[in-house]
Amino acid sequence: MSSIDILSLIRQVPNYPKEGILFYDITTALENPEGLRAIMKGFIDQYRDQKIDKVIGTEARGFIFAPTLAYELGAGFVPVRKPNKLPSVTIGVNYALEYGTDRLEIHADAIKPGERVLIVDDLLATGGTAHAVTQLVTQLGGETIGFAFLLELDGLGGRDKLAGFDIFSMMTVP
Ligand code: PRP
Repeated sequence: MSSIDILSLIRQVPNYPKEGILFYDITTALENPEGLRAIMKGFIDQYRDQKIDKVIGTEARGFIFAPTLAYELGAGFVPVRKPNKLPSVTIGVNYALEYGTDRLEIHADAIKPGERVLIVDDLLATGGTAHAVTQLVTQLGGETIGFAFLLELDGLGGRDKLAGFDIFSMMTVP
């Protein structure tokens, strides 16, 4: 199944979560067995043989892909979560949203110095979330070897925000 076929499986919902936003609903691609297989194969083929130690999934939709990808790559899975969800010692980073700020946290012992880390999420938009996650990796002494997204929204500055990093987006939409 080509990437254009995967895109056709993603439901587009106008005016969600608010007026004027076109929401790409990936659940319709995930519930399709061929769609799910094509998505996971796309990620796995991209990162095979890259000696990745840890795959980070960002709450919530990064959790859908990262564990399976980590399993296939022989890596560990690490969740990056919204505040106060992780039970042990954490480090966190605050990052700016269009209005206000948000915060992401990681267990302080989840990445060891020198580990090669891949960061996975469903969507690249402004890049604020992904940029925050790589700051956590850096603080723990890890090396971000790249970012993997199912969908990239073009024109929102995500690539510029992540300049200098390797970015793989399975599909890009205007
Ligand atoms: C969405 C998406 C990414 C992020 C991308 O998550 O899953 O994590 O936004 O946007 P950015 O590139 O502008 O940072 P959301 O904040 O909706 O959280 P959720 O996955 O928990 O619904």
